[in-house]
Amino acid sequence: MAVYKTTQVVFIITTLVGLITPIAVDPGQPCPAPPPCTCRIPGSMIDCSGKGLSHVPGISNGGQQRWTVDISYNQLTTIPKRAFENITVVSLNMSHNKISTLSMDCLVGSNDVVTSVHMESNQFWYLPNAIDDLTNLEILTMQDNPFIILGTSMSFASTLRYLTIGSENSPWPKYIDQLNAITHLTVVGLTCYSLPFDAFFNMAGTMKSLVLQNNECNDMPDSVQVLTNLEHLAVIDNHLLTSFDIHNLTSLTSLVIENSSLSTMPNISKCTHLLSIYVTDSPIKSWELDTIPPESKLRNITLDRTDFDHIPTALRQIPLVENLLMKNTNVSNIEDSDLSTLFLLRNLDLSNASLEGIAVTAFKQNTMLYSISLDNTNLAGVPRAIGEVDSLYVLNMLGDSIECTCKELGWMRLWGALEHFVTGSGTCQNTGMDLMTYIREYVPKCAT
Ligand SMILES: *[C@@H]1O[C@H](CO)[C@@H](O)[C@H](O)[C@H]1NC(C)=O
Ligand SMILES: *[C@@H]1O[C@H](CO)[C@@H](O)[C@H](O)[C@H]1NC(C)=O
Ligand SMILES: *[C@@H]1O[C@H](CO)[C@@H](O)[C@H](O)[C@H]1NC(C)=O
Ligand SMILES: *[C@@H]1O[C@H](CO)[C@@H](O)[C@H](O)[C@H]1NC(C)=O
Ligand SMILES: *[C@@H]1O[C@H](CO)[C@@H](O)[C@H](O)[C@H]1NC(C)=O
Ligand SMILES: *[C@@H]1O[C@H](CO)[C@@H](O)[C@H](O)[C@H]1NC(C)=O
Ligand SMILES: *[C@@H]1O[C@H](CO)[C@@H](O)[C@H](O)[C@H]1NC(C)=O
Ligand SMILES: *[C@@H]1O[C@H](CO)[C@@H](O)[C@H](O)[C@H]1NC(C)=O
Repeated sequence: MAVYKTTQVVFIITTLVGLITPIAVDPGQPCPAPPPCTCRIPGSMIDCSGKGLSHVPGISNGGQQRWTVDISYNQLTTIPKRAFENITVVSLNMSHNKISTLSMDCLVGSNDVVTSVHMESNQFWYLPNAIDDLTNLEILTMQDNPFIILGTSMSFASTLRYLTIGSENSPWPKYIDQLNAITHLTVVGLTCYSLPFDAFFNMAGTMKSLVLQNNECNDMPDSVQVLTNLEHLAVIDNHLLTSFDIHNLTSLTSLVIENSSLSTMPNISKCTHLLSIYVTDSPIKSWELDTIPPESKLRNITLDRTDFDHIPTALRQIPLVENLLMKNTNVSNIEDSDLSTLFLLRNLDLSNASLEGIAVTAFKQNTMLYSISLDNTNLAGVPRAIGEVDSLYVLNMLGDSIECTCKELGWMRLWGALEHFVTGSGTCQNTGMDLMTYIREYVPKCAT
């Protein structure tokens, strides 16, 4: 009886706390799954991931909570009848198993509660009925299965927003055109030439984000040109990609190209809303002037691991740039005019570039410059050019050869940034002292 009362008190307190804070957790709830599974009670998570299981363990009463069930990375081949009958499931992760079938009623009681299902890397040949029956599913990941045929009666056709599909050698999934609420689609492994011309037709109105990964594309498939509302496009691990036409994707705000064979920057002249462009691991050497929209809004430009050997002149047409990253490139010099129109530049990163020189007045116009990273370059010493940058807060020069003497760094005594200059990294080659310590403690003592 006493125990009962305590539980009741705890329940009342929890309820009261629940009214004040949005997170109502019943601390008395035992873990409904047996060891080796564990529970994270705040968070309502049953974690059976990577426990070498060959059967789904029995699961006892889980109370009123909505559980996230993680049975990924095991040796499961099926999920039996009524496996989760004693709990309410909101999210099920069965990825990375050997599952080919699900018992029809394995999610009984949770059909209208489940919002996310992860079933990638299994042995599915078709979308099981137990999934077809979910009426509120929003997230479904099913890539890397032998072949997935979608059902003709997917109850979640109008609620599913995030979908990941694809596996090597598989065709475009039949009936995918019934899913007309998709906002985020990821296509992995499935080849570009297996995309039908109308692949994205029914998703054109809603789709905001498309990721194409490892599809052996040479060019962008024509089928994407229908996605005129697309805001985010990522094309990753398409190492055969040599041309890139996105003339119809006029709503893009961010573009990612990673690991391609592009040798020139993509033509984004029609992408007037583009804010960020990240092009990495590609042999890009040039950026043509007539590929940039007249009043470009680009703020973030990342060109890491490209073959640029100079700061592209095209940047002079992009005055709003705040972040410019060109790590691991062949950029060897920063000339006077390279950055002279980037009045809003805040962050410049040329780490691992084969940088040898920076013109003394290269940063004269960059009065907002906040952070400069020049780790592992071929610079001999702290570039005198930063003396122009009174706004600087961070200077990274790890791995550079810096001689910390008054002769080399004494000029910093009169540098406007010295008063607020707070952080960074680097080592004095001659003494082994931390560069920042030298700048803060010894530079002010240098004689003029
Ligand atoms: C659900 O709970 C009942 C009663 O405790 C139990 O008999 C049954 O085996 C449980 N179901 C599963 C799938 O563990
Ligand atoms: C399985 O999915 C859940 C969310 O549904 C996630 O929290 C968990 O990290 C995933 N497990 C693994 C091993 O990725
Ligand atoms: C390009 O977009 C327009 C609508 O803005 C559309 O009519 C046209 O069909 C699209 N082109 C392709 C190839 O999908
Ligand atoms: C680029 O993609 C190819 C295959 O698509 C892959 O083998 C390679 O590891 C990737 N390289 C990088 C740097 O990601
Ligand atoms: C980029 O596209 C625009 C508009 O479609 C075109 O006028 C321009 O010539 C193109 N630039 C290149 C280098 O192809
Ligand atoms: C630009 O990059 C910064 C730093 O990584 C990030 O905080 C910001 O959200 C990005 N801006 C846009 C428009 O993507
Ligand atoms: C730099 O130039 C060399 C020689 O021209 C080239 O082999 C290399 O791929 C280029 N890119 C980078 C990132 O070093
Ligand atoms: C620079 O190159 C080194 C060695 O190749 C690597 O370990 C490091 O991660 C690189 N740094 C950056 C910022 O890319």
